[in-house]
Amino acid sequence: MRSHEAGALHGQAGDRGPGWLRAPENANELVPHLWASSVSKVDGVLTVAGESVLDLAAEFGTPTYVLDEDDFRRRARGFNEAFPDADVFYAGKAFLCVATARWIAEEGLNLDVCTGGELAVALKAEFPPARIGLHGNNKSVAELRRALEVGVGRIIIDSIEEIERLRDLTAELGVTAPVLVRVTAGVEAHTHEYISTSHEDQKFGFSITGGDARDAVKRVLAEPGLKLLGLHSHIGSQIFVTDGFEVAARRVLRLHADIEKELGVTLPEFDLGGGFGIAYTTQDDPSSPEDLARGMLKIVDDECAAMGVAVPRLSIEPGRAIAGPSTFTLYEVGTTKTVALDGGASRRYVSVDGGMSDNIRPALYSADYSCTLASRASDAPATLSRVVGKHCESGDIVVKDEFLPGDVRAGDLLAVPGTGAYCRSLASNYNHVPRAAVVAVRDGEARVIVRRETEDDLFTLDVG
Ligand code: LLP
Repeated sequence: MRSHEAGALHGQAGDRGPGWLRAPENANELVPHLWASSVSKVDGVLTVAGESVLDLAAEFGTPTYVLDEDDFRRRARGFNEAFPDADVFYAGKAFLCVATARWIAEEGLNLDVCTGGELAVALKAEFPPARIGLHGNNKSVAELRRALEVGVGRIIIDSIEEIERLRDLTAELGVTAPVLVRVTAGVEAHTHEYISTSHEDQKFGFSITGGDARDAVKRVLAEPGLKLLGLHSHIGSQIFVTDGFEVAARRVLRLHADIEKELGVTLPEFDLGGGFGIAYTTQDDPSSPEDLARGMLKIVDDECAAMGVAVPRLSIEPGRAIAGPSTFTLYEVGTTKTVALDGGASRRYVSVDGGMSDNIRPALYSADYSCTLASRASDAPATLSRVVGKHCESGDIVVKDEFLPGDVRAGDLLAVPGTGAYCRSLASNYNHVPRAAVVAVRDGEARVIVRRETEDDLFTLDVG
């Protein structure tokens, strides 16, 4: 561990930041578990898969999402290996482009898409349609039609209207739609309200407690064009403990067993969704896929035995846990400022050349990140710093609290780990800042997989 309690180094409480943040003994050192596996420092310079960030910044500019391809692939494979008898669907919403869709296909995973746009990217990558699952609480007729035409492997039903749309489309196209019914187990995952999805008062799924889920299943079974594979439950995102999964699994399996017994059908599948948490800072301690698998498979086996039903084939849908740790965002520092805090303490503001347009998560979910000075070593004292972006909002924060060397200055490069999921995919053009490039690095070779937007790109849409 690189850190110790802030004590003699930082006399005033205001300089210490939140309780979980520790002042490092050496601010140059990385906390290994926050970084992709090939990332290290060589003479103070961050390198990934043999490429130095000095070279990457010179060649591709900043800000840039730098993705360790082997790390991404290894984590994808890791889920397949940990859950050998389950179907692993990579949740493309975390980060999907043609290259990552191909990697997912090559590593033998399935793919979860939740819009026509994500489906289009998958098809562009020639992802096998039979290995695609289509999600969404408001799928349009056009999206459903395309999915049926190309032959996606499963559609996860989320509304009564969708059942009706599928009834009409399957009749029109002369096909059968393999479907799961998404249910809400009434579980409050311990995560941010906006990314918790299985409590009752939100838009996803059919309620088990209110009986809506059972009614939806009956509606599906009554439609000859629909083939019911099973139930689906996703309780939320960035979850660290299996308790929530356990309660949800028990409730959904109870419904699964009731349906099999009362309606005399077999439900061959059971989808537990995604939501596996990752480490953004030293306060996060995620489980390994192996530990998750052990816990979740035992829960399902025990519950099925207790209810006297056969164990269905499981699916899981990890997104963040595959894409998130593979990537760091590389920024260049532009300005710095020291601001006086109450009690005589101070905080250093370090402004970088991106911000809430490339990572909205701090503003949207109060998400914490960490960062390191990436372009050189420094022996200046570690100083509580706030890394902020270049947008016209005071909430434009990239890293709320981090100890950085006190001499960080214009022209330095900073790297923020854990930005592979829900950063580029949630990126915007706010303030007409062009969206950053994604550069994949493997075996000392770097290549652009999503190019940087240009001002000309802005005018391809703004037609005057
Ligand atoms: N399956 C379903 C049905 C989902 O809705 C999601 C995420 C996943 C799987 C993948 O969850 P993951 O393993 O990536 O946590 N923008 C938020 C997260 C939104 C998640 C939406 N659904 C964030 O940045 O934290």
